[in-house]
Amino acid sequence: MIDRPRRLRSNEIIRNLAAETKPDRSKLIMPYFVTEGTGVREGFDSMPGIDRVSIDNLIEDLKADINSGIEAILLFGIPNTKDDVGSGAYSDNGIIQKAVRKIRKEFKDTILIITDLCLCEYTDHGHCGIIERGQIVNDPTVELLARTALSHAEAGADIVAPSDMMDGRVSAIRSVLEDKGFHNTAIMAYSAKFCSSFYGPFRAVAGSAPSFGDRKSYQMDFRNGREAEREIISDINEGADIIMIKPGLSYGDIIYRAKEISPVPICVYNVSGEYSMVKTVSAKGFIDEKRIVTEIMTSFFRAGSDMIISYHTRDIFKERWF
Ligand code: PBG
Repeated sequence: MIDRPRRLRSNEIIRNLAAETKPDRSKLIMPYFVTEGTGVREGFDSMPGIDRVSIDNLIEDLKADINSGIEAILLFGIPNTKDDVGSGAYSDNGIIQKAVRKIRKEFKDTILIITDLCLCEYTDHGHCGIIERGQIVNDPTVELLARTALSHAEAGADIVAPSDMMDGRVSAIRSVLEDKGFHNTAIMAYSAKFCSSFYGPFRAVAGSAPSFGDRKSYQMDFRNGREAEREIISDINEGADIIMIKPGLSYGDIIYRAKEISPVPICVYNVSGEYSMVKTVSAKGFIDEKRIVTEIMTSFFRAGSDMIISYHTRDIFKERWF
C-alpha cells in the first residue's frame, strides 16, 4: 500500500520530469538607474523598490545584489544637464562612463555590464534622436550612437544595448567597435521595440518623456507582427549578437515568432509598466506576487526567451522565488 502523501509527492515528481520549461535565475538581468552627485537616492511611487541613485549608492546596491546572486546588470544614466544633441551620452565624463569604470574597478570581471544606448535621457527635448526642422533625423543620430557605444566599451561595458530604433545603428556600432579593437563587446539590439504605454513609469524615473510629439516615427506599431520579424532579421544581418523584444507581457506571439527565425539569442524586456502593475496590485493583496512573477517569467521562457531583463530580478534572487 502506498500512503497518500507519498502518492502526492510522486505526482509532483512526474510533473517536474514532464515540465517543458524551467525558470532559471541565471538568465535574469537587473536594471539600474544611475545619476550624478553623492548620497542620492530617489524613489518613485510607480516603481516600488527601484530607485534613482548616485554612483556611491549604486555600488552599495550592487554589493547586496551580487551577494544574493545577481550577475548581469543593465545600466541607464540620468545626467544633470541635457542639451539638444545629447552630449552627456558620449562624453568621457558622462554618468554611464563614470559608473561603468567604478563598477569595473570595484567588482572586476565578476559581473556582466550591459549599458543602454540611447539619447533620450540626454536630450533636452527627450527624443531618442537629433532633431532638425522638427523631425528626428536618422543618420546624424546613428553617428552619435556609434560614438556613445565606443565610449561605453572604453569604460568597460561588456554589452551595449541600443534602444533608439534608428535604422542602420547596429552596423554603425559594429564597425566602430571593430575599428577600435573592441571585438569582444557584444551588441544587444532592441530589435522589436514597440511604441508602448507600458513605458510610462520608466519615463518618470529616467526623466525621458518627449517634450513634444511621441515616438511613433521610430518605435514600432503594436498592430504589427510581421514587421517585427523584418526588424529582427535586419538587426541580425547588421551584426546583432542578441536581439530584444520589448515590452514582454502582451508580446508573447512576437517572442515565439522571433524564436522561429532567430539564429541568435533572444532577450525579453519585462518593462516598467508591467512591473508597476504587478507591484501595485500585489501590494493591495489582490494577487500573490511570488506566484504571478514566477508565472510571468516562466511564460517568457516558454514563449522562447533565452534571457529576461526584469525589475523583479532583485526580489526573485533575494526571496529565492525560483
Ligand atoms: C529609451 C528606453 C525606454 C525604455 C528603455 N530604454 C523608454 C522609451 O523608449 O520611451 C523603457 C524601459 C521600461 O519601460 O522599463 N529609449
